[in-house]
Amino acid sequence: MDVLSVLLLMAGFEASVATVCPMGWHRYGKACYFVIKELNTWYKAKSICAASHASLAVPNSLEEQTFILELLQLEFNPDGPGNGAWIGCNDIDKEGDWQNCPLRGNDTNAYQNWSEGKPDNRHFAADCAMMGDWRKGEWGDQFCTNLRYATCELAIIDYDPLFCLQIGSDGRIISPCLTDNHVLMELQAQGLVSCGKACLSHPKCSSFNLKDQGQGKMVCKLNDLALQNAAKEDVVEIENCYGLDL
Ligand SMILES: *[C@@H]1O[C@H](CO)[C@@H](O)[C@H](O)[C@H]1NC(C)=O
Ligand SMILES: *[C@@H]1O[C@H](CO)[C@@H](O)[C@H](O)[C@H]1NC(C)=O
Repeated sequence: MDVLSVLLLMAGFEASVATVCPMGWHRYGKACYFVIKELNTWYKAKSICAASHASLAVPNSLEEQTFILELLQLEFNPDGPGNGAWIGCNDIDKEGDWQNCPLRGNDTNAYQNWSEGKPDNRHFAADCAMMGDWRKGEWGDQFCTNLRYATCELAIIDYDPLFCLQIGSDGRIISPCLTDNHVLMELQAQGLVSCGKACLSHPKCSSFNLKDQGQGKMVCKLNDLALQNAAKEDVVEIENCYGLDL
């Protein structure tokens, strides 16, 4: 009986198309941003961001601050975001020790835009930061349980996705090359192109596998790791196909 000849296909995409934000998210620099247009506590907003593998946004430069403020104004046109939108800065764990955002006057080059006199911590447990219409976008500290809008930020992977397929002698795809430990999600795909597009539109996707289940059904697996990012000792060769064994 003929053994199927196996062909390993690997190809890089253009870097420019690898950095696509999901629908409804807005690109700036190496991140995608999403405004939560419902009012939530800081904790709930954080968990909504986390459900998309994102975090509450932290403005790390005047440019990013300006982008986020303009995005809020755009999303809440013409009235603006009212009492503001949560950002990632907080001193929940230790009073005065602000995570993600340095304090004014602290000896650091890190960006901050606290409003004059803020955080004042006037009210015990004003442990979460927001920005918005209040004082033209400067940051203020508030009770984390207040209901505010919020901005999520999702970092974009900095390398090009690869794909990796095994194709039998009949031209059909017979098995995936990467093992399952780094699968972000599985979906039904029409074929190579739709699976590749799904990978490109997921900011955390760095490679994908397509597995033919027969009867025209294909499973598309999006992975958060690509072969070139794996440690050499984790890469194994199985039947002429390189995979990860982690
Ligand atoms: C703080 O943010 C506002 C609004 O984005 C901006 O106009 C101002 O220049 C910022 N200040 C600093 C110190 O970055
Ligand atoms: C600088 O930050 C530390 C915590 O990281 C804090 O204890 C200290 O009070 C800050 N200094 C100023 C001047 O804000």
